Amino acid sequence: MPINYDSEKKIFKLDSAASSYVFEIFDEGYLVHLYYGAYIPDNNVGMFRDKGMFVSESPCNFKIGEGSFSPDVTPLEFSGEGSGDFRNSCIAVRNADGNNVTDMRYVSHKIYPGKPSLKGMPALFVTDPSQADTLEVTVRDSVTGIEAVLYYTVFNDCGAMARGVKVINPTDKTVYLERIMSCCVDYDTHDYDLITLYGKWSKERSVERSPLAHLTQGISSKRGSSSHHHNPFAALVDREANEDYGSAYGFNLVYSGNFVFDAEVEPFGGVRTVMGINPEGFEWTLEPGGEFVAPEAVTVYSNEGIGGMSRVFHKLYSKHLIRSKWAHVKRPLLINNWEATGMDFTGDQLVTFAERAKELGIDMLVMDDGWFGNRDSDKTALGDWFVNENKLGGPLGDFVKRINDLGIKFGIWFEPEMVSRDSDLYRAHPDWCIHVPGREKSIARHQYVLDFSREDVRDYIYGLMRGIIAENNIAYVKWDCNRYLSEVGSAALPKERQKETFHRYVLGVYDVLGRLTSDFPDLLLEGCASGGGRYDPGMLYYEPQIWCSDNTDPIERLSIQFGTSLCYPASTMGAHVSDSRRAGYETKGNIALWGTFGYELDPNTFTPEEVEIVKNQVNEYHKYYALIHEGELYRLITPDKNHFRAAWMFVSEDKNSALVTSVVMRKQEENNFYLKLKGLDPEKYYVEDESGEVYSGALLMNAGLCLNKYGRMDGDSFKLYFRTL
Ligand code: GLA
Repeated sequence: MPINYDSEKKIFKLDSAASSYVFEIFDEGYLVHLYYGAYIPDNNVGMFRDKGMFVSESPCNFKIGEGSFSPDVTPLEFSGEGSGDFRNSCIAVRNADGNNVTDMRYVSHKIYPGKPSLKGMPALFVTDPSQADTLEVTVRDSVTGIEAVLYYTVFNDCGAMARGVKVINPTDKTVYLERIMSCCVDYDTHDYDLITLYGKWSKERSVERSPLAHLTQGISSKRGSSSHHHNPFAALVDREANEDYGSAYGFNLVYSGNFVFDAEVEPFGGVRTVMGINPEGFEWTLEPGGEFVAPEAVTVYSNEGIGGMSRVFHKLYSKHLIRSKWAHVKRPLLINNWEATGMDFTGDQLVTFAERAKELGIDMLVMDDGWFGNRDSDKTALGDWFVNENKLGGPLGDFVKRINDLGIKFGIWFEPEMVSRDSDLYRAHPDWCIHVPGREKSIARHQYVLDFSREDVRDYIYGLMRGIIAENNIAYVKWDCNRYLSEVGSAALPKERQKETFHRYVLGVYDVLGRLTSDFPDLLLEGCASGGGRYDPGMLYYEPQIWCSDNTDPIERLSIQFGTSLCYPASTMGAHVSDSRRAGYETKGNIALWGTFGYELDPNTFTPEEVEIVKNQVNEYHKYYALIHEGELYRLITPDKNHFRAAWMFVSEDKNSALVTSVVMRKQEENNFYLKLKGLDPEKYYVEDESGEVYSGALLMNAGLCLNKYGRMDGDSFKLYFRTL
C-alpha cells in the first residue's frame, strides 16, 4: 500500500511512483511535517530532531513539555491563524465571537484505494482505484468545533500528489471562512530557487528563476481568472538544478480564478510554501451544517531536474486531468479565420477557405468572432448569440452544410461569460453583469462580465449556446474570455456574501463547462482568454486544449511554448501557423507542430510552393501526432538570451522513436556546434529518416549531432526523425 500509517510512531508515509511524503501526529494532535522528497523505504525521518522546540518570544503550547513546544518553529501540515505560528496560515475562520483564531488538531483518519472527485469542481481523477491511494485526515478546532478534512492522494504511476481541503461547520453557529490554502509544504532549508511563469497579453508564461531569500516571494492573481500575469504554477528547485539534474518540486492549482502561491523563508532557514485561493477579496459564510471545498492542488517531485518534473506533470495531466474523450484521440487539424479576416467575412468567403482546406488535407474550419448579432467590431453584440444570417448568406445550418458537404468539419467561437455594453442583452438586463451598487463599471474591450455566479444568467446563456451547437452539427467550440473582473459584486447575493462572488463566478463557469461537456461529449473544446490568459489545470479538466497566445510570431512563440511546457503537455498547447513574416512556412510549421497544430490564415493566399509545404506539413502532423501527443518532451536548448538557437525533442515511451526540432533565433553560431540529444536508449541504434545514417543512442546523447550542414540564418530550422533499426 503506497500509504502507510505506523500506529506506534503515529507516522503517515505516502509513497508515489518516485517520492515519499512523511508526517506525524505529534503531542496534542499537532500534524508535524517530516519529509518530502525522493522515495525512501523507511519512515524514521526526523529521529534526531528536537521534539518540542521553542525560541524566546514565540508562543508555546504549555501542555507539551511545560511550554517547550512552539508551533512557530515547527514544520506543520495545516497551521491555523493566530494560535502561535506567525507564518502564512492555511486556514482562518472568523467565529461567532468575532475573532479569527483557528487551531486545527488531529481527530481521525482513513486510508483507501482510489481518489474522490470534487463536486462541481475540476480535480484529478483515476479510472481505476488501483491507480492511486488516498489519505483523509480530519482535524478540528476544539473551541469553535469547526472541522476540516485534509485529502492526500498519491498516484502509483507518477511522482505526484493531489492535495485538497474540505471545511465543515458541524456547529449551530454561523462562521466565516477568511482564508483557506489547499496545500502547505514546510521545508527545512531554503536552499532552493523559485521558478514561476509570468507574462502579459501576447507574452504569456515566461520563465522567472530567482533564489529564495529571507523574504516572502510569491505570485497571485486577483483578476478573477488565473491570468496572463502569473500562472498558478511554481517550482522550488535545487540551486544547481538544471533540465536534467537536481530536485524539483512543482506546485499547480487546479483552479481558474484568484490564487496565491507564497514561499516564505523563516529565520531558522526553512521555507513554508502555501497555495490556494487568494484570500484577498475572499470570504465564505459557513452556516450550520455548511461545507466549503477548496480547489485541489497538485504537487510533483522529481530528482531528474526541471525536465523530469515537467514530464511528470505531462503524464499526470494526460492520464488523470483531461477528461475529454479527445485526450487520447487524434484531433481534427483545423484552420481558423481570425487572423485572416477578423470580423469582416462572409459565408461565401469562408466556404472558399474550406474548399482550399479540403485540397490541403485540413479537417476542420473554425469560424471565429463576428458571426452573431450586430458584431462587426469588438464594440458590440457579445451576449446576443443569434446568428447573423446576412453575413453568412442564410441560416447557420445551411452554411454548416455547405462546409460539411466538402468533407470539412465545422467549429465555432463563443465568449459566453461576456456582454457588450452595446448589446440587446445588456439593454434588457443591465443587472446581469458583475457590478457593485452606485459605482460606475470599468469597461474593457467595450464589454462587461456577465454574473456567472447567477444560475438564471448561466441558464440563459447556456440555453442559447446549446441550441446553436445541437442544431448545427458543430464539432468544436472555442470558448473565449477577453477581460478581467473589476467592481466585483453580485446583485443576487446578500451584502454579507458579496466576497463570495469571485469564487462563485468560477464555480459558475465550471458549471456551464460541465453541462456543455456532458451534453456534448464528442465536442472538442478549445479554451482561450485573449490568448493564454486562463491556461490552468482547472480549464484543462474540461478543455483538452488552450490557445497559447495571440502572439503567433514563430520566434516569440518559442519562449511562450517553452514556458508553457514547464507544466503543461504539448497536447494542450494551441499552436497555429499564421501569416506572420518572421520566418518561412517550414519553420512556422516546425514550431506549431509542438502543439495542437493548425492554421490561422487565408489558405487562398498560398503560392504553389507554399501549397506543397503545407501538404507536407499535414502529412507530418499525422506522422508525428502520437509521438508529440503521447511522447515525452526533452527541452534541449532554451530560447533565452544566452542561446542562438532553441531545440527540443519528443521521445516515444518505448524509446523507439524520436523527433528533434531546432530553430535559429539569431545567427552567429560557431562552427562545429554539437546538439546533444536526450532521453534515448544508449544501447539502441537509431536510423535518421532522411539521411539513412545510423547512430547509437549513446553517440547521439554524448557526442551529439554536428549542426554544420543545417541552416544558420535567423528563422532557419530543421526537424530530424529517428527510429530504432
Ligand atoms: C481573442 C482571442 C483571439 C480571437 C479574438 C476574437 O483575442 O484570443 O484568438 O478569438 O479574441 O475576438
